[in-house]
Amino acid sequence: MNDPASPADALRSSLATLLDGLPPRQAAQAVERLIASYRGATPTDAPILRDRADVAAYAAYRMPATFEAVHSALEAFAQAVPDWTPGSHTDVGGGTGAATWAVTATWPGERGVTVLDWAEPALQTGREIAAANPALRQARWQRARIGPALTLDPTDLVTVSYVLNELTAPDRTTLLDTVASATQAVVIVEPGTPDGYARVIEARDRLIGAGFHVAAPCPHSADCPIVPGTDWCHFSARVSRSSLHRQIKGGSLAYEDEKFSYVAATRRPVTPAPARIVRKPQIRKGQVLLDLCETEPALRRTTVTKRHGDLYKAARDADWGDAWPPAVD
Ligand SMILES: C[S@@+](CC[C@H](N)C(=O)[O-])C[C@H]1O[C@@H](n2cnc3c(N)ncnc32)[C@H](O)[C@@H]1O
Repeated sequence: MNDPASPADALRSSLATLLDGLPPRQAAQAVERLIASYRGATPTDAPILRDRADVAAYAAYRMPATFEAVHSALEAFAQAVPDWTPGSHTDVGGGTGAATWAVTATWPGERGVTVLDWAEPALQTGREIAAANPALRQARWQRARIGPALTLDPTDLVTVSYVLNELTAPDRTTLLDTVASATQAVVIVEPGTPDGYARVIEARDRLIGAGFHVAAPCPHSADCPIVPGTDWCHFSARVSRSSLHRQIKGGSLAYEDEKFSYVAATRRPVTPAPARIVRKPQIRKGQVLLDLCETEPALRRTTVTKRHGDLYKAARDADWGDAWPPAVD
């Protein structure tokens, strides 16, 4: 029997199929127009994704990146709750369902999955793409507007990925309170920009106020040590570029790096990382410089040298976003 494709590969080929029949020029134009609307004033009063061609193009362009970002956040979360697997998942503002794919990549197998969004074309396309993922066979794709009237059925895990940016401040607060009362675990992902980070911190504070513990990326649930306005906590996920990407962005690079900010929080007991690497490690001759967020909570640079033996080898292999020191198996 052939090995089943990994969720990342299955997603990529399902997205390629989705674009079949859509002339590449039209797909590229749709993406460019959508990127322009996303750069414009948000939140909006009506869905930006208007029809199937819009959604197909945007999904092909953006889903691999949001999938990788959410997958990284979920993997960090899973390390902090090693004995836990969600039995059900709700993706709020789920669009075409990138986060549902990331959940199946982190915790394989079928579970009750619900995707909520106000854009019907996104839900329809999401359902089509998900046909390539056996773990999403039973997923329910439901129209719902995030706002004061939103209700959520109890669920083990909620994801809110690249959505807060599209909401008004009151809707963000209401959403977080609704999520906090419906679930024991929540993962929020935003673009890795100063504004994205600010929305993540706002969400983090709200969740802690509702009794959640931060599982990742922070090693603690105390205040973030970053002085507002001086820096922003964000991470990077590597994404292979598709031919549509190359057409829109030009150049021949085979990959790009998606920058994202996130918080994963739960009501369950957590074992957060002792520290997290919050910048790209700098490898010098015989030493590695690591910028860490630690439990104090404090930001600190540490230098790991050859005389640290195995720890030095681990530092050479360490990535931005990893826990430090690495867990020993
Ligand atoms: C940038 S997309 C992100 C989609 C998906 N979560 C992902 O990570 O790929 C934002 C999504 O939020 C949805 N959205 C924005 N405002 C909404 C609202 N008030 N109610 C429901 N969905 C909303 C949009 O329709 C869109 O699908």
